[in-house]
Amino acid sequence: MPAADEGVADADADASAGQTGRPATAGRRRVSRRTLLAGGGLAALAGGGTVTAAALRSDGRATASAVIPFHGPHQAGILTPRQQHVRLAAFDLGNRTDRGRAAALLLRWTSAAEHLTRGEAVPAELEPPGSRAAETGALDGSAPARLTVTFGLGPTFFDRTGLTAARPATLAPLPSFPEDQLDPARSDGDLLVQIGADDAFVTAHVLRTLQRLAHGEAKLRWAMTGFTAADGRRNLMGQIDGTNNPEPARALLNGPDVPPWLEGGSYVVIRRIRMLLDHWDTLPPTHREQVLGRRAADGAPLTGGTERTPVDLAAARPDGVPVIAANAHIRLAAPASNHGATMVRRSWSFHDGLRADGTPDAGLLFMAWQSDPRTGFIPVQQRLSRGDALARYLVHETSALFAVPGGTRPGGYVAQALLEG
Ligand code: HEM
Repeated sequence: MPAADEGVADADADASAGQTGRPATAGRRRVSRRTLLAGGGLAALAGGGTVTAAALRSDGRATASAVIPFHGPHQAGILTPRQQHVRLAAFDLGNRTDRGRAAALLLRWTSAAEHLTRGEAVPAELEPPGSRAAETGALDGSAPARLTVTFGLGPTFFDRTGLTAARPATLAPLPSFPEDQLDPARSDGDLLVQIGADDAFVTAHVLRTLQRLAHGEAKLRWAMTGFTAADGRRNLMGQIDGTNNPEPARALLNGPDVPPWLEGGSYVVIRRIRMLLDHWDTLPPTHREQVLGRRAADGAPLTGGTERTPVDLAAARPDGVPVIAANAHIRLAAPASNHGATMVRRSWSFHDGLRADGTPDAGLLFMAWQSDPRTGFIPVQQRLSRGDALARYLVHETSALFAVPGGTRPGGYVAQALLEG
């Protein structure tokens, strides 16, 4: 079940629902709102949040017109059930972009995301000088389609904005892992944007809009496009994926040690993992199942039962050989093999055509959400990279880690408590 603040809502529902528990940021401001809004004409939007698109009513999760509220104690797009399409993009701040200008950018992006998730066009006031993009009507005829826009901050964001001292120790760059074949140009980044929707046209348009609004402050570093199966269950290897995920809320940060800007937030690891599908497709089905440790048809563990039956990692055949192979993916990835390490996997498939050698450029945009990558993704990937049977059919091509600030209330913007703290 989606959390109350992220479920589908009628567009004319109270946009501030779910705001309880957020720390007030008033009184901690250092960057004045006047500075943030100077020249941008954003003042009229600063108190935004009133839903005006009364025509957009949600008829259920599957309908294109469904609206996911932007505001809440955590950003939408973490607990939200995955949409059918995603655009992931990382941006790098420009050399002249300091803390105040980064704040202005995040205010602009936040305001734009508020409007877009409600199915409204971005107000012309947000556009860079000379732009008449708001008049093209590109979204006429489109509905929000459960659009969520989620923003994250990379480790380098803090140095570039003079906030090095505020960077959490948890947000250290990821280590390299054996067999990584990373492309630095498509890894890392100062800022992350995750755009999910049930309409690929909407995700493409929103990315284009945010890129335009970043004009002069941040440049696109990389972008990736992903999708889910209609029922959201299988990946391109044909496996049922996501079965043994923990309760999604476990990825959220709370507690006295969490800085106010991260409360209700999370950390996300992104890995573009190419699948060697042409090789995979030649394997006997039983071998493919042993590599994973689960049945292809219904996702049940090889130790029996149905998809949700707990795996019996101790089960052995009469000859003493373990039923779940010693190097099976689900054995090596399991919390029991990694001192209890867990993460919430919310991944997307990708297929970007063929490579020069004719093989598919396809696989998984693996996304792992957690409260601390040092006790989540990192130890598990260290284990998997040293012998996971599945790894033979995978190539890790890109890598990134971002802190995802908590949610916003109307009139606020993402990471405000950090940038004005
Ligand atoms: C393309 C790469 C990958 C594929 C195709 C894949 C596929 C799967 C599948 C089909 C399952 C079983 C169903 C489920 O519980 O979701 C699974 C389980 C799991 N995977 Fe992966 N996976 C990949 C990469 C990774 C990576 C990089 C990690 C973490 C570093 C990871 C961590 C896990 C975990 C924690 C489980 C649950 C294990 C358990 O407790 O049963 N996977 N994966």
